[in-house]
Amino acid sequence: MHILLIGSGGREHALAWRLSQSPMCDKLYAAPGNPGIAELATCVALDPADHGAVEAFCREHHVGLVVVGPEAPLVDGLGDSLRAAGIKVFGPNANAAILEGSKGFVKDLCAREGIPTAAYARHSDKAAALADLARFGLPVVIKADGLAAGKGVIIAETDAQAQDAIETMFGGGFGDAGAEVVIEEFMTGEEVSFFAISDGAHVIPFGSAQDHKRVGDGDTGPNTGGMGAYSPAPVFTPALEAEVMDRIIHPTVKAMARDGRAYSGVFFAGLMLTDQGPKLIEYNCRFGDPECQVLMLRFEGDLAQLLLAAASADGLGAIERPQLSPDTALTVVMAAKGYPGTPEKGGTIAIGDIGGAQIFHAGTALNGGQLVANGGRVLNVTAHGQSVTAAQAAAYAAVDAIDFPTGFCRRDIGWREVAREKAAG
Ligand code: AMP
Ligand code: GLY
Repeated sequence: MHILLIGSGGREHALAWRLSQSPMCDKLYAAPGNPGIAELATCVALDPADHGAVEAFCREHHVGLVVVGPEAPLVDGLGDSLRAAGIKVFGPNANAAILEGSKGFVKDLCAREGIPTAAYARHSDKAAALADLARFGLPVVIKADGLAAGKGVIIAETDAQAQDAIETMFGGGFGDAGAEVVIEEFMTGEEVSFFAISDGAHVIPFGSAQDHKRVGDGDTGPNTGGMGAYSPAPVFTPALEAEVMDRIIHPTVKAMARDGRAYSGVFFAGLMLTDQGPKLIEYNCRFGDPECQVLMLRFEGDLAQLLLAAASADGLGAIERPQLSPDTALTVVMAAKGYPGTPEKGGTIAIGDIGGAQIFHAGTALNGGQLVANGGRVLNVTAHGQSVTAAQAAAYAAVDAIDFPTGFCRRDIGWREVAREKAAG
């Protein structure tokens, strides 16, 4: 089978790495890919927004499966266009990708189906939103309804901040994404990312991970796309997973199918483990980045076979739960100085002896054969271990073998679990 992978980040490099190992994968294309992916796939310049061009490429190159990495092409309906042309796609249609594309849609779905989540209100009128704030108390969470590149969530500690957030959103500060806002009760607890794969009717658990969103050690500084992750998340016990499948994932799959929005692809559920049990923070319609990198390191099956099954009607009916290795995978994001603001471009990177670690390229380019930084998040240095402590040591040993003078990373990825492992002796 010929496979076309859409995307260019560390998530897509990790997917390309596993897809290229599949006995089913005869030829892998990536659009646009990156220098790391180029070692595994043929990179092609295709604009995912040009559905006709993607379709024509698939026909010409006999592509049997398109794997879409990022959310934007899915929300934009690339899945619909390719399916209409008879091409199999891993990733939902636009009317199902709305689970990521509209936060208000998800909240209404949760309310209708009794899925545990934070109390909320949707508003498309500024005055009504401001008037509604008081009943939520503080802190309060204000969200732009649509896609805002991960920046559309403001946790307001004071009334002034909450009012300001609403003013900014309705004032166009987040573009069209803020034409509607969601006000949410602030939940407390530990956050976990959970992944499940669906063909629209069946859904199977994939695995859990924990991300580190803040740019600085000790979870300080501004939010980022994620500075590191590990999998599994030991706090997410098999009992919690069963509860989440039962109370959150299965009801979602059922409701979406019933409403003519059958969801085929990966569910990325952001969960808060609260005193009242796990609650849904949000859905994403794609793998997490960098969560995907640690999941792929642990994945032991045939990825092309699994994603093809998810892309086929009833394809997952006969498939066993994917096997992930029982040990821990941990990834450290090396970013370019300036990230999450404007990152320094062009800094040179030299990779030394990284032992058994795996490096996924997130934002790199080749400049006359020299590997250089070409984005905010640049490399994902990923390693295995018997414990989070061991995986962390292996990942940082590899980080220390990389010469990247204009780069930086957090030095404490996995800190919660390392502290727990230490306390447990
Ligand atoms: P989201 O983009 O919806 O994942 O939100 C970004 C981050 O904001 C989440 O990862 C949480 O840390 C935080 N967050 C979002 N909603 C809530 C909430 N209702 N209560 C507490 N924290 C939240
Ligand atoms: N790492 C969080 C995300 O992919 O949204």
